[in-house]
Amino acid sequence: MQIRFVPAADASRPRLVARFVEQDKLPADLDRTATEGARANRFSGKSGQVFETFAESSGRVERIALVGIGAESGDDRPAALERAGATLGAKYMTSGESALALDAAGLSADDLAAVLTGLTLRTWRYDVHRTRLKDEQKVSLDEVVVLGASDGAEAAWQRQGALVEGVKFTRELVAEPANIIYPESFVARCQERFAGTGAELTVLDDKQMEALGMGALLGVAQGSRKPARLLAIRWNGGGSAAPTVFVGKGVTFDTGGISIKPAAGMEDMKWDMGGAGAVAGAMLAIATRKAAANVIGVCGLVENMPDGNAQRPGDVVTTMSGQTVEVINTDAEGRLVLCDAMTWAQREFKPARLIDLATLTGAMIISLGHEHGGVFSNDDALAEQLLAAGRASGDKLWRFPLAPAYDKLIDSEIADIKNVGPRYAGSITAAQYLQRFVDEGTPWAHLDIAGMVWADKPGATWGKGATGFGVRLIDRFVRDQLEA
Ligand code: BES
Ligand code: MN
Ligand code: ZN
Repeated sequence: MQIRFVPAADASRPRLVARFVEQDKLPADLDRTATEGARANRFSGKSGQVFETFAESSGRVERIALVGIGAESGDDRPAALERAGATLGAKYMTSGESALALDAAGLSADDLAAVLTGLTLRTWRYDVHRTRLKDEQKVSLDEVVVLGASDGAEAAWQRQGALVEGVKFTRELVAEPANIIYPESFVARCQERFAGTGAELTVLDDKQMEALGMGALLGVAQGSRKPARLLAIRWNGGGSAAPTVFVGKGVTFDTGGISIKPAAGMEDMKWDMGGAGAVAGAMLAIATRKAAANVIGVCGLVENMPDGNAQRPGDVVTTMSGQTVEVINTDAEGRLVLCDAMTWAQREFKPARLIDLATLTGAMIISLGHEHGGVFSNDDALAEQLLAAGRASGDKLWRFPLAPAYDKLIDSEIADIKNVGPRYAGSITAAQYLQRFVDEGTPWAHLDIAGMVWADKPGATWGKGATGFGVRLIDRFVRDQLEA
């Protein structure tokens, strides 16, 4: 989507013009037909309402969309404006119109940035593999012309636009099937996208990981023809401050391994790299807007397959930390990948805080559905900051407990730890497992986002499919906690 800023009276503006209407404040300059039409259709300016009419002005017929932004104020206003932009975008994305004029009258710079955020996020769709779409099914809208934006609006949009690019990159990584995005190609796509951003990318291959003793991560990868990778994306915008490190689970496909999953719905496991995808997209946003913070994103990338060389239930592997793990269930692979990625991240970067994101457990979806991600933390302040970032960004979180009684459940008879506990509290025992790999004194949080990275129905700012969850959360956290 191209965004162009022009003066209010621009004569070359598209014939489709959107105007924003606050609750019960129909514009006074609308002609009688439009006003009557809006009233007859119960268009009141409520957030998310759109009313379309046609009107003749200086000799040409304009297609006018009145878009409600409601009466929300304060903290609720940006979300209402995003919703308005998203509804508008959803209505016209396949309408046949290729350009949309957006009348910025009455919108502040931040208001406008919120509208454009909703519009650009909602109209994103990944159609590269659909070669037989009919014209009327294709996205036609590719340009937004902003009329008469207030001072500072372009700068505000530039900042928000970086975030939107990050979300879209995450969605692309998540939406791509596993024959296209696997550990090496995930890295390659990041190398392309980060070129010129100033972020520094480091890649470890399987030989290097073996030398470092990452037996748990490599144990998962050994059943696949695709070699594992560990990717670090480093943004150094905050001087000498100790970095904040985000670690993402990047299982590019999760069959379950020898503890194989049922066939029905297994295709969903192409998005088992949603944690790593969120980390990569957030790093893109952070680097693009040149955040004044030191942030590092680490992606643990493997494919979990059953094979003659795959690890077996009962195998014991040695992690980079030196702790041994009894692999009771090869489908609890995310924690095996994360534990080595987390040990490496702590040794390599000495982070001020460590936050991992993972589509870790089906149990999380049972607990929270598709409304919140779960947060687990050894540090109340960090947990609170993440919850706040969730509320502010719309990527909502809910906190879960950690406790020694849960930790005990993953003691093994034959090794230091087993990779699964009993059936109940599965999300918590998974978090307890990860906590055993966190260094004393390091504030750490684990975000289980299994229910959030993929949507079966459209939401406020996304269609069906990849949501980009986590990018806005991380960006918000970085802004409020590291840049403030
Ligand atoms: N990737 C899955 C978790 C998952 C399931 C994410 C469904 C999104 C949707 C994870 O690797 C997994 O298989 N977890 C197991 C753990 C169990 C074996 C202890 C699960 O949740 O069933
Ligand atoms: Mn699994
Ligand atoms: Zn998994």
